[in-house]
Amino acid sequence: MIKTICCIGAGYVGGPTMAVIALKCPDITVNVVDLSQTRIDAWNDRDLNNLPIYEPGLIEIIHKCRGRNLFFSTEVDKAIEDADAIFISVNTPTKAYGVGKGQAADLKYIELCARQIAEVATTPKIVIEKSTLPVRTAEAISNILKNTGNGVDFQVLSNPEFLAEGTAVQDLLYPDRVLIGREESKEGKKAAQTLVDIYKNWVNEDKILTTNVWSSELSKLTANAFLAQRVSSINAMSELCEVTGADVNEVAKAIGADSRIGSKFLKSSVGFGGSCFQKDILNLVYIAKSYGLKEVADYWEQVIILNNHQKRRFASNIVKTLFNTVSGKDIAILGWAFKKNTNDTRESAAIYISNELLKERAELKVFDPKVTKEQIFSDLDRLETRTEEENKSLVSVVEDPYEACENAHAVAVLTEWDEFNGYDWEKIYRSMKKPAFVFDGRALLDQEKLEEIGFATYKIGKG
Ligand code: NAD
Ligand code: UDX
Repeated sequence: MIKTICCIGAGYVGGPTMAVIALKCPDITVNVVDLSQTRIDAWNDRDLNNLPIYEPGLIEIIHKCRGRNLFFSTEVDKAIEDADAIFISVNTPTKAYGVGKGQAADLKYIELCARQIAEVATTPKIVIEKSTLPVRTAEAISNILKNTGNGVDFQVLSNPEFLAEGTAVQDLLYPDRVLIGREESKEGKKAAQTLVDIYKNWVNEDKILTTNVWSSELSKLTANAFLAQRVSSINAMSELCEVTGADVNEVAKAIGADSRIGSKFLKSSVGFGGSCFQKDILNLVYIAKSYGLKEVADYWEQVIILNNHQKRRFASNIVKTLFNTVSGKDIAILGWAFKKNTNDTRESAAIYISNELLKERAELKVFDPKVTKEQIFSDLDRLETRTEEENKSLVSVVEDPYEACENAHAVAVLTEWDEFNGYDWEKIYRSMKKPAFVFDGRALLDQEKLEEIGFATYKIGKG
Protein backbone atom coordinates (compact mmCIF):
# COMPACT_ATOMS: atom_id res chain seq x y z
CA MET A 1 0.00 0.00 0.00
CA ILE A 2 1.27 3.41 -0.98
CA LYS A 3 1.07 5.98 1.80
CA THR A 4 3.49 8.62 0.55
CA ILE A 5 4.32 9.69 -2.96
CA CYS A 6 7.16 11.90 -4.13
CA CYS A 7 7.14 13.58 -7.52
CA ILE A 8 10.43 14.99 -8.77
CA GLY A 9 9.66 17.89 -11.11
CA ALA A 10 6.95 20.48 -10.40
CA GLY A 11 6.31 21.47 -13.99
CA TYR A 12 3.38 21.32 -16.42
CA VAL A 13 3.09 17.58 -15.84
CA GLY A 14 4.24 17.07 -12.25
CA GLY A 15 2.09 19.89 -10.82
CA PRO A 16 -1.34 19.04 -12.27
CA THR A 17 -0.81 15.26 -12.19
CA MET A 18 0.05 15.22 -8.51
CA ALA A 19 -2.73 17.69 -7.71
CA VAL A 20 -5.27 15.27 -9.18
CA ILE A 21 -3.76 12.26 -7.38
CA ALA A 22 -3.92 14.24 -4.11
CA LEU A 23 -7.52 15.20 -4.82
CA LYS A 24 -8.63 11.65 -5.56
CA CYS A 25 -6.52 9.89 -2.92
CA PRO A 26 -6.94 11.91 0.28
CA ASP A 27 -5.20 9.18 2.31
CA ILE A 28 -1.97 9.49 0.35
CA THR A 29 0.53 12.25 1.11
CA VAL A 30 1.89 13.75 -2.09
CA ASN A 31 5.16 15.68 -1.97
CA VAL A 32 6.07 17.51 -5.16
CA VAL A 33 9.69 18.63 -5.25
CA ASP A 34 11.77 20.69 -7.63
CA LEU A 35 15.24 22.24 -7.80
CA SER A 36 13.75 25.57 -8.76
CA GLN A 37 13.00 27.63 -5.67
CA THR A 38 11.11 30.18 -7.79
CA ARG A 39 8.78 27.50 -9.14
CA ILE A 40 8.13 26.01 -5.71
CA ASP A 41 7.51 29.45 -4.24
CA ALA A 42 4.96 30.08 -6.96
CA TRP A 43 3.20 26.77 -6.22
CA ASN A 44 3.08 27.83 -2.56
CA ASP A 45 1.97 31.40 -3.26
CA ARG A 46 -0.99 32.46 -1.15
CA ASP A 47 -2.51 34.17 -4.16
CA LEU A 48 -3.58 31.25 -6.31
CA ASN A 49 -3.48 33.47 -9.38
CA ASN A 50 0.31 33.33 -9.09
CA LEU A 51 0.63 29.56 -9.61
CA PRO A 52 3.49 28.91 -12.05
CA ILE A 53 1.21 27.42 -14.67
CA TYR A 54 -2.22 28.34 -15.91
CA GLU A 55 -4.67 25.46 -16.42
CA PRO A 56 -8.45 25.76 -16.23
CA GLY A 57 -9.72 24.09 -13.04
CA LEU A 58 -6.30 23.81 -11.40
CA ILE A 59 -6.71 26.62 -8.88
CA GLU A 60 -9.74 24.93 -7.33
CA ILE A 61 -7.89 21.65 -6.83
CA ILE A 62 -4.81 23.33 -5.38
CA HIS A 63 -7.04 25.32 -3.07
CA LYS A 64 -8.61 22.11 -1.79
CA CYS A 65 -5.50 19.93 -1.42
CA ARG A 66 -2.50 22.17 -0.77
CA GLY A 67 -1.48 21.87 2.87
CA ARG A 68 -3.89 18.93 3.31
CA ASN A 69 -2.15 16.07 1.52
CA LEU A 70 -0.37 17.99 -1.24
CA PHE A 71 2.93 19.74 -0.52
CA PHE A 72 5.44 21.61 -2.68
CA SER A 73 9.05 21.91 -1.58
CA THR A 74 12.70 21.95 -2.65
CA GLU A 75 13.67 19.28 -0.14
CA VAL A 76 14.26 16.56 -2.69
CA ASP A 77 16.24 14.15 -0.47
CA LYS A 78 13.68 14.14 2.28
CA ALA A 79 10.79 13.59 -0.12
CA ILE A 80 12.66 10.65 -1.71
CA GLU A 81 13.40 9.06 1.63
CA ASP A 82 9.81 9.42 2.86
CA ALA A 83 8.20 8.02 -0.28
CA ASP A 84 6.94 4.55 -1.16
CA ALA A 85 6.60 5.55 -4.80
CA ILE A 86 8.59 8.18 -6.70
CA PHE A 87 7.36 9.72 -9.93
CA ILE A 88 10.09 11.19 -12.13
CA SER A 89 8.53 14.07 -13.98
CA VAL A 90 11.51 16.16 -14.99
CA ASN A 91 12.09 17.74 -18.38
CA THR A 92 13.61 15.73 -21.22
CA PRO A 93 14.43 18.39 -23.83
CA THR A 94 16.09 17.82 -27.19
CA LYS A 95 19.83 17.49 -26.73
CA ALA A 96 21.65 20.72 -27.57
CA TYR A 97 25.21 19.33 -27.62
CA GLY A 98 27.34 16.32 -28.48
CA VAL A 99 26.15 13.09 -30.08
CA GLY A 100 22.51 13.29 -31.14
CA LYS A 101 22.50 17.10 -30.87
CA GLY A 102 19.22 18.51 -32.21
CA GLN A 103 17.42 15.15 -32.17
CA ALA A 104 18.05 12.82 -29.24
CA ALA A 105 16.40 13.43 -25.87
CA ASP A 106 18.71 14.89 -23.26
CA LEU A 107 18.50 12.44 -20.38
CA LYS A 108 20.85 14.21 -17.99
CA TYR A 109 18.02 15.30 -15.66
CA ILE A 110 16.62 11.78 -15.59
CA GLU A 111 20.00 10.28 -14.80
CA LEU A 112 20.57 12.82 -12.02
CA CYS A 113 17.23 11.84 -10.47
CA ALA A 114 18.07 8.14 -10.66
CA ARG A 115 21.45 8.71 -9.00
CA GLN A 116 19.92 10.86 -6.31
CA ILE A 117 17.22 8.26 -5.57
CA ALA A 118 19.88 5.52 -5.42
CA GLU A 119 22.01 7.56 -3.04
CA VAL A 120 19.25 8.60 -0.68
CA ALA A 121 16.86 5.63 -0.52
CA THR A 122 17.16 3.27 2.41
CA THR A 123 13.78 1.53 2.00
CA PRO A 124 12.25 -0.19 -1.07
CA LYS A 125 10.84 2.17 -3.70
CA ILE A 126 8.71 1.97 -6.78
CA VAL A 127 10.22 4.39 -9.30
CA ILE A 128 7.81 5.57 -11.96
CA GLU A 129 8.84 7.18 -15.24
CA LYS A 130 6.28 9.91 -15.84
CA SER A 131 8.51 11.91 -18.18
CA THR A 132 8.43 10.99 -21.86
CA LEU A 133 11.48 8.85 -22.51
CA PRO A 134 13.20 6.99 -25.32
CA VAL A 135 12.37 3.30 -25.50
CA ARG A 136 14.58 1.25 -23.14
CA THR A 137 15.34 4.13 -20.73
CA ALA A 138 13.84 2.13 -17.85
CA GLU A 139 16.71 -0.30 -18.34
CA ALA A 140 19.25 2.49 -17.79
CA ILE A 141 17.38 3.78 -14.73
CA SER A 142 17.22 0.26 -13.31
CA ASN A 143 20.95 -0.19 -13.86
CA ILE A 144 21.80 2.99 -12.04
CA LEU A 145 19.46 2.21 -9.15
CA LYS A 146 20.70 -1.33 -8.75
CA ASN A 147 24.39 -0.62 -9.18
CA THR A 148 24.76 2.57 -7.20
CA GLY A 149 22.06 2.09 -4.56
CA ASN A 150 22.25 0.98 -0.95
CA GLY A 151 21.07 -2.51 -1.82
CA VAL A 152 17.38 -1.68 -1.37
CA ASP A 153 14.81 -3.05 -3.80
CA PHE A 154 13.72 -0.82 -6.69
CA GLN A 155 10.98 -1.58 -9.19
CA VAL A 156 10.90 0.67 -12.23
CA LEU A 157 7.57 1.29 -13.96
CA SER A 158 6.74 3.33 -17.04
CA ASN A 159 3.60 5.44 -16.70
CA PRO A 160 3.66 8.02 -19.51
CA GLU A 161 1.40 11.04 -19.26
CA PHE A 162 -1.06 11.83 -22.04
CA LEU A 163 -2.51 15.11 -20.76
CA ALA A 164 -2.65 18.03 -23.15
CA GLU A 165 -2.03 21.53 -21.86
CA GLY A 166 -5.08 23.74 -21.58
CA THR A 167 -7.21 20.67 -20.79
CA ALA A 168 -4.82 19.03 -18.31
CA VAL A 169 -7.26 18.80 -15.41
CA GLN A 170 -10.05 17.28 -17.50
CA ASP A 171 -7.59 14.90 -19.18
CA LEU A 172 -6.33 13.76 -15.79
CA LEU A 173 -9.78 13.38 -14.26
CA TYR A 174 -11.21 11.55 -17.27
CA PRO A 175 -8.30 9.93 -19.11
CA ASP A 176 -8.92 7.91 -22.29
CA ARG A 177 -6.53 5.40 -20.78
CA VAL A 178 -3.80 5.05 -18.19
CA LEU A 179 -0.76 3.14 -19.40
CA ILE A 180 1.52 1.23 -17.07
CA GLY A 181 4.58 -0.61 -18.32
CA ARG A 182 6.25 -3.14 -16.05
CA GLU A 183 8.70 -6.00 -15.96
CA GLU A 184 7.20 -9.44 -16.55
CA SER A 185 8.54 -10.69 -13.20
CA LYS A 186 6.38 -11.34 -10.14
CA GLU A 187 7.83 -8.22 -8.47
CA GLY A 188 7.20 -6.14 -11.60
CA LYS A 189 3.56 -7.21 -11.70
CA LYS A 190 3.14 -6.51 -8.00
CA ALA A 191 4.57 -3.00 -8.38
CA ALA A 192 2.27 -2.34 -11.33
CA GLN A 193 -0.73 -3.48 -9.30
CA THR A 194 0.18 -0.98 -6.58
CA LEU A 195 0.04 1.81 -9.14
CA VAL A 196 -3.19 0.43 -10.65
CA ASP A 197 -4.70 0.64 -7.17
CA ILE A 198 -3.94 4.36 -7.00
CA TYR A 199 -5.56 5.10 -10.37
CA LYS A 200 -8.52 2.86 -9.56
CA ASN A 201 -9.63 5.55 -7.10
CA TRP A 202 -11.09 7.45 -10.03
CA VAL A 203 -10.36 5.62 -13.28
CA ASN A 204 -12.36 2.64 -14.44
CA GLU A 205 -10.18 -0.47 -14.40
CA ASP A 206 -10.86 -1.29 -18.05
CA LYS A 207 -9.13 1.97 -18.97
CA ILE A 208 -5.95 1.01 -17.14
CA LEU A 209 -3.67 -0.83 -19.54
CA THR A 210 -0.63 -2.76 -18.43
CA THR A 211 2.07 -3.69 -20.94
CA ASN A 212 5.72 -4.49 -20.96
CA VAL A 213 7.97 -1.52 -20.23
CA TRP A 214 9.28 -1.09 -23.77
CA SER A 215 5.79 -1.01 -25.28
CA SER A 216 4.74 1.59 -22.76
CA GLU A 217 7.72 3.85 -23.42
CA LEU A 218 7.32 3.53 -27.18
CA SER A 219 3.54 4.05 -27.08
CA LYS A 220 4.00 7.54 -25.71
CA LEU A 221 6.33 8.61 -28.53
CA THR A 222 4.04 6.90 -31.03
CA ALA A 223 0.90 8.65 -29.75
CA ASN A 224 2.53 12.07 -30.07
CA ALA A 225 3.90 11.21 -33.50
CA PHE A 226 0.44 10.14 -34.74
CA LEU A 227 -1.24 13.27 -33.34
CA ALA A 228 1.37 15.60 -34.82
CA GLN A 229 1.17 13.73 -38.11
CA ARG A 230 -2.54 14.52 -38.35
CA VAL A 231 -1.84 18.21 -37.86
CA SER A 232 0.87 18.16 -40.52
CA SER A 233 -1.41 16.21 -42.85
CA ILE A 234 -4.22 18.77 -42.58
CA ASN A 235 -1.71 21.62 -42.79
CA ALA A 236 -0.34 20.12 -46.01
CA MET A 237 -3.89 20.11 -47.36
CA SER A 238 -4.36 23.74 -46.22
CA GLU A 239 -1.76 24.88 -48.73
CA LEU A 240 -3.42 22.88 -51.48
CA CYS A 241 -6.81 24.33 -50.49
CA GLU A 242 -5.47 27.85 -50.77
CA VAL A 243 -4.30 27.37 -54.35
CA THR A 244 -7.35 25.42 -55.51
CA GLY A 245 -10.13 27.51 -53.96
CA ALA A 246 -11.14 24.82 -51.47
CA ASP A 247 -11.66 25.47 -47.74
CA VAL A 248 -9.64 23.28 -45.40
CA ASN A 249 -12.28 23.49 -42.66
CA GLU A 250 -14.87 22.06 -45.02
CA VAL A 251 -12.45 19.35 -46.12
CA ALA A 252 -11.69 18.52 -42.47
CA LYS A 253 -15.37 18.28 -41.66
CA ALA A 254 -16.03 16.06 -44.64
CA ILE A 255 -13.20 13.64 -43.95
CA GLY A 256 -13.66 13.74 -40.17
CA ALA A 257 -17.21 12.46 -40.55
CA ASP A 258 -15.71 9.16 -41.65
CA SER A 259 -15.57 7.20 -38.42
CA ARG A 260 -12.36 5.55 -39.57
CA ILE A 261 -10.68 8.96 -39.74
CA GLY A 262 -12.45 10.78 -36.87
CA SER A 263 -12.87 14.51 -36.43
CA LYS A 264 -10.25 15.35 -33.81
CA PHE A 265 -6.86 16.90 -34.53
CA LEU A 266 -7.86 18.07 -37.99
CA LYS A 267 -7.72 21.79 -37.30
CA SER A 268 -5.41 23.54 -39.69
CA SER A 269 -3.09 26.04 -38.04
CA VAL A 270 0.05 28.14 -38.23
CA GLY A 271 1.86 24.97 -37.24
CA PHE A 272 1.93 22.91 -34.09
CA GLY A 273 3.97 24.07 -31.12
CA GLY A 274 4.36 22.98 -27.52
CA SER A 275 7.15 21.24 -25.70
CA CYS A 276 6.24 17.73 -26.83
CA PHE A 277 5.45 17.12 -30.49
CA GLN A 278 8.67 18.29 -32.09
CA LYS A 279 10.89 16.97 -29.33
CA ASP A 280 9.27 13.54 -29.29
CA ILE A 281 9.25 13.10 -33.05
CA LEU A 282 12.89 14.16 -33.31
CA ASN A 283 13.63 11.62 -30.64
CA LEU A 284 11.71 8.95 -32.54
CA VAL A 285 13.64 9.83 -35.69
CA TYR A 286 16.90 9.55 -33.76
CA ILE A 287 15.98 6.16 -32.32
CA ALA A 288 14.93 4.83 -35.75
CA LYS A 289 18.21 6.05 -37.26
CA SER A 290 20.23 4.54 -34.47
CA TYR A 291 18.72 1.15 -35.35
CA GLY A 292 19.53 1.78 -39.04
CA LEU A 293 15.87 2.27 -40.01
CA LYS A 294 16.35 5.09 -42.50
CA GLU A 295 12.92 4.90 -44.17
CA VAL A 296 11.15 4.95 -40.80
CA ALA A 297 13.21 7.94 -39.70
CA ASP A 298 12.61 9.83 -42.97
CA TYR A 299 8.87 9.15 -42.80
CA TRP A 300 8.48 10.76 -39.37
CA GLU A 301 10.93 13.56 -40.04
CA GLN A 302 8.61 14.76 -42.79
CA VAL A 303 6.03 15.71 -40.12
CA ILE A 304 8.51 18.25 -38.74
CA ILE A 305 9.62 19.45 -42.16
CA LEU A 306 6.00 20.20 -43.11
CA ASN A 307 5.41 21.97 -39.79
CA ASN A 308 8.42 24.23 -40.32
CA HIS A 309 7.21 24.95 -43.83
CA GLN A 310 3.75 25.92 -42.52
CA LYS A 311 5.20 28.48 -40.09
CA ARG A 312 7.56 29.90 -42.72
CA ARG A 313 4.91 30.21 -45.39
CA PHE A 314 2.53 32.01 -43.01
CA ALA A 315 5.18 34.64 -42.25
CA SER A 316 6.22 35.07 -45.87
CA ASN A 317 2.58 35.38 -46.91
CA ILE A 318 2.21 38.36 -44.57
CA VAL A 319 5.27 40.04 -46.08
CA LYS A 320 4.13 39.31 -49.64
CA THR A 321 0.61 40.60 -49.02
CA LEU A 322 1.81 43.78 -47.35
CA PHE A 323 3.29 44.82 -50.71
CA ASN A 324 6.53 42.89 -50.18
CA THR A 325 7.77 45.06 -47.38
CA VAL A 326 6.98 45.21 -43.69
CA SER A 327 9.97 47.34 -42.72
CA GLY A 328 8.82 49.99 -40.26
CA LYS A 329 5.22 48.72 -40.39
CA ASP A 330 3.31 47.96 -37.20
CA ILE A 331 1.88 44.45 -37.04
CA ALA A 332 -0.34 43.33 -34.17
CA ILE A 333 0.30 39.80 -32.92
CA LEU A 334 -2.74 38.36 -31.17
CA GLY A 335 -1.75 35.26 -29.22
CA TRP A 336 1.70 34.09 -28.14
CA ALA A 337 0.91 30.81 -26.30
CA PHE A 338 1.29 27.65 -28.39
CA LYS A 339 -2.46 26.97 -27.98
CA LYS A 340 -5.35 28.50 -26.09
CA ASN A 341 -5.93 28.13 -22.33
CA THR A 342 -2.27 27.85 -21.40
CA ASN A 343 0.53 30.29 -20.56
CA ASP A 344 3.09 27.91 -22.05
CA THR A 345 5.01 29.29 -25.03
CA ARG A 346 7.50 26.51 -25.64
CA GLU A 347 8.01 26.03 -29.40
CA SER A 348 5.04 28.30 -30.07
CA ALA A 349 4.59 29.11 -33.76
CA ALA A 350 4.21 32.75 -32.68
CA ILE A 351 7.90 32.91 -31.73
CA TYR A 352 9.04 31.66 -35.11
CA ILE A 353 6.61 33.79 -37.14
CA SER A 354 7.45 36.93 -35.17
CA ASN A 355 11.13 36.26 -35.68
CA GLU A 356 10.65 36.06 -39.45
CA LEU A 357 8.73 39.36 -39.43
CA LEU A 358 11.37 41.00 -37.25
CA LYS A 359 14.08 39.91 -39.68
CA GLU A 360 12.17 42.04 -42.19
CA ARG A 361 12.26 44.91 -39.69
CA ALA A 362 8.54 44.89 -38.90
CA GLU A 363 7.52 46.48 -35.59
CA LEU A 364 5.39 44.18 -33.49
CA LYS A 365 2.81 44.87 -30.83
CA VAL A 366 2.01 41.65 -29.02
CA PHE A 367 -1.00 40.77 -26.91
CA ASP A 368 -1.72 37.45 -25.20
CA PRO A 369 -4.29 37.01 -22.41
CA LYS A 370 -2.03 34.81 -20.26
CA VAL A 371 1.59 35.17 -21.33
CA THR A 372 3.76 37.71 -19.54
CA LYS A 373 5.89 40.39 -21.15
CA GLU A 374 9.02 38.85 -19.58
CA GLN A 375 8.23 35.49 -21.17
CA ILE A 376 7.71 37.00 -24.62
CA PHE A 377 11.03 38.87 -24.53
CA SER A 378 12.82 35.86 -23.12
CA ASP A 379 11.47 33.73 -26.02
CA LEU A 380 12.76 36.26 -28.56
CA ASP A 381 16.09 36.89 -26.84
CA ARG A 382 16.79 33.15 -26.66
CA LEU A 383 16.77 32.96 -30.47
CA GLU A 384 19.91 35.13 -30.50
CA THR A 385 18.84 36.61 -33.85
CA ARG A 386 18.96 40.13 -32.44
CA THR A 387 20.34 41.76 -29.31
CA GLU A 388 18.01 42.29 -26.35
CA GLU A 389 18.08 46.02 -27.12
CA GLU A 390 17.03 45.42 -30.73
CA ASN A 391 14.14 43.24 -29.60
CA LYS A 392 13.07 45.93 -27.14
CA SER A 393 13.12 48.58 -29.83
CA LEU A 394 11.11 46.53 -32.36
CA VAL A 395 8.62 44.78 -30.09
CA SER A 396 6.21 46.06 -27.50
CA VAL A 397 4.01 43.85 -25.37
CA VAL A 398 0.69 45.39 -24.40
CA GLU A 399 -2.08 44.44 -22.03
CA ASP A 400 -4.93 45.65 -24.21
CA PRO A 401 -5.69 44.01 -27.56
CA TYR A 402 -7.12 47.25 -28.94
CA GLU A 403 -3.85 49.00 -28.20
CA ALA A 404 -1.99 46.24 -30.03
CA CYS A 405 -4.04 46.89 -33.17
CA GLU A 406 -4.04 50.68 -33.10
CA ASN A 407 -2.29 52.12 -36.17
CA ALA A 408 -1.25 48.65 -37.27
CA HIS A 409 -1.14 47.69 -40.93
CA ALA A 410 -2.10 44.12 -40.14
CA VAL A 411 -3.26 41.80 -37.38
CA ALA A 412 -1.93 38.25 -37.18
CA VAL A 413 -3.98 35.80 -35.12
CA LEU A 414 -1.57 33.12 -33.93
CA THR A 415 -3.35 31.46 -30.96
CA GLU A 416 -7.00 30.41 -30.98
CA TRP A 417 -8.04 32.22 -27.76
CA ASP A 418 -11.87 32.27 -27.73
CA GLU A 419 -11.96 35.89 -26.61
CA PHE A 420 -10.52 37.11 -29.93
CA ASN A 421 -13.88 36.34 -31.50
CA GLY A 422 -15.71 38.64 -29.14
CA TYR A 423 -13.64 41.74 -29.88
CA ASP A 424 -15.19 44.83 -31.42
CA TRP A 425 -13.62 44.34 -34.84
CA GLU A 426 -15.28 47.48 -36.23
CA LYS A 427 -13.48 49.52 -33.60
CA ILE A 428 -10.24 47.73 -34.43
CA TYR A 429 -10.74 48.44 -38.13
CA ARG A 430 -11.31 52.13 -37.51
CA SER A 431 -8.06 52.39 -35.52
CA MET A 432 -5.86 50.67 -38.11
CA LYS A 433 -3.93 51.89 -41.15
CA LYS A 434 -5.74 51.23 -44.43
CA PRO A 435 -5.90 48.87 -46.17
CA ALA A 436 -6.26 46.89 -42.95
CA PHE A 437 -5.36 43.20 -43.09
CA VAL A 438 -6.23 40.27 -40.83
CA PHE A 439 -4.11 37.13 -41.18
CA ASP A 440 -6.03 34.44 -39.36
CA GLY A 441 -3.62 31.58 -38.71
CA ARG A 442 -6.18 29.57 -36.77
CA ALA A 443 -9.27 29.92 -38.98
CA LEU A 444 -10.87 31.36 -35.88
CA LEU A 445 -12.63 34.54 -36.90
CA ASP A 446 -15.73 35.12 -39.01
CA GLN A 447 -14.06 36.02 -42.29
CA GLU A 448 -17.25 37.23 -43.99
CA LYS A 449 -17.99 39.62 -41.16
CA LEU A 450 -14.44 40.97 -41.23
CA GLU A 451 -14.67 41.56 -44.97
CA GLU A 452 -18.01 43.34 -44.58
CA ILE A 453 -16.32 45.67 -42.12
CA GLY A 454 -13.67 46.44 -44.73
CA PHE A 455 -10.73 44.21 -43.78
CA ALA A 456 -8.69 42.39 -46.37
CA THR A 457 -8.42 38.88 -44.96
CA TYR A 458 -6.33 35.77 -45.22
CA LYS A 459 -7.63 32.68 -43.52
CA ILE A 460 -5.39 29.66 -43.24
CA GLY A 461 -6.45 26.98 -45.72
CA LYS A 462 -9.05 29.02 -47.62
CA GLY A 463 -8.54 29.76 -51.28
P1 NAD B 1 8.77 21.29 -17.11
O1 NAD B 1 10.02 21.85 -17.66
O2 NAD B 1 7.55 22.16 -17.01
O3 NAD B 1 9.03 20.72 -15.63
C1 NAD B 1 10.12 19.94 -15.30
C2 NAD B 1 10.61 20.37 -13.90
O4 NAD B 1 11.59 19.44 -13.46
C3 NAD B 1 11.27 21.75 -13.88
O5 NAD B 1 10.57 22.58 -12.98
C4 NAD B 1 12.71 21.46 -13.39
O6 NAD B 1 13.22 22.48 -12.54
C5 NAD B 1 12.53 20.16 -12.65
N1 NAD B 1 13.76 19.37 -12.51
C6 NAD B 1 14.65 19.02 -13.46
N2 NAD B 1 15.63 18.24 -12.94
C7 NAD B 1 15.34 18.09 -11.61
C8 NAD B 1 15.96 17.39 -10.54
N3 NAD B 1 17.06 16.66 -10.75
N4 NAD B 1 15.39 17.47 -9.34
C9 NAD B 1 14.26 18.19 -9.12
N5 NAD B 1 13.63 18.86 -10.10
C10 NAD B 1 14.17 18.82 -11.33
O7 NAD B 1 8.44 20.00 -17.98
P2 NAD B 1 7.01 19.33 -18.25
O8 NAD B 1 6.33 20.04 -19.35
O9 NAD B 1 6.34 19.14 -16.96
O10 NAD B 1 7.46 17.92 -18.83
C11 NAD B 1 8.03 16.92 -17.99
C12 NAD B 1 8.07 15.62 -18.76
O11 NAD B 1 6.74 15.20 -19.09
C13 NAD B 1 8.82 15.68 -20.09
O12 NAD B 1 9.48 14.46 -20.29
C14 NAD B 1 7.71 15.84 -21.11
O13 NAD B 1 8.06 15.33 -22.36
C15 NAD B 1 6.60 15.00 -20.50
N6 NAD B 1 5.24 15.40 -20.89
C16 NAD B 1 4.91 16.71 -20.99
C17 NAD B 1 3.59 17.06 -21.31
C18 NAD B 1 3.18 18.49 -21.43
O14 NAD B 1 2.07 18.74 -21.91
N7 NAD B 1 3.97 19.46 -21.02
C19 NAD B 1 2.64 16.07 -21.50
C20 NAD B 1 3.02 14.75 -21.37
C21 NAD B 1 4.33 14.42 -21.06
C1 UDX C 1 0.35 16.97 -26.74
C2 UDX C 1 -0.54 15.71 -26.75
O1 UDX C 1 -1.83 16.06 -27.25
C3 UDX C 1 -0.65 15.13 -25.35
O2 UDX C 1 -1.39 13.92 -25.38
C4 UDX C 1 0.75 14.86 -24.83
O3 UDX C 1 0.67 14.35 -23.51
C5 UDX C 1 1.58 16.13 -24.84
O4 UDX C 1 1.61 16.66 -26.18
P1 UDX C 1 -0.01 19.49 -26.02
O5 UDX C 1 1.24 19.72 -26.78
O6 UDX C 1 -0.13 20.02 -24.65
O7 UDX C 1 -0.31 17.93 -25.93
O8 UDX C 1 -1.26 20.11 -26.85
P2 UDX C 1 -2.05 19.62 -28.14
O9 UDX C 1 -3.47 19.88 -27.92
O10 UDX C 1 -1.67 18.27 -28.58
O11 UDX C 1 -1.55 20.66 -29.24
C6 UDX C 1 -0.24 20.65 -29.75
C7 UDX C 1 -0.12 21.66 -30.88
O12 UDX C 1 -0.84 21.23 -32.03
C8 UDX C 1 -0.67 23.05 -30.52
O13 UDX C 1 0.16 24.04 -31.03
C9 UDX C 1 -2.02 23.05 -31.21
O14 UDX C 1 -2.46 24.34 -31.52
C10 UDX C 1 -1.72 22.24 -32.46
N1 UDX C 1 -2.92 21.63 -33.04
C11 UDX C 1 -3.60 20.68 -32.35
C12 UDX C 1 -3.33 22.03 -34.30
O15 UDX C 1 -2.72 22.87 -34.92
N2 UDX C 1 -4.45 21.43 -34.83
C13 UDX C 1 -5.16 20.48 -34.18
O16 UDX C 1 -6.16 20.00 -34.74
C14 UDX C 1 -4.73 20.09 -32.88
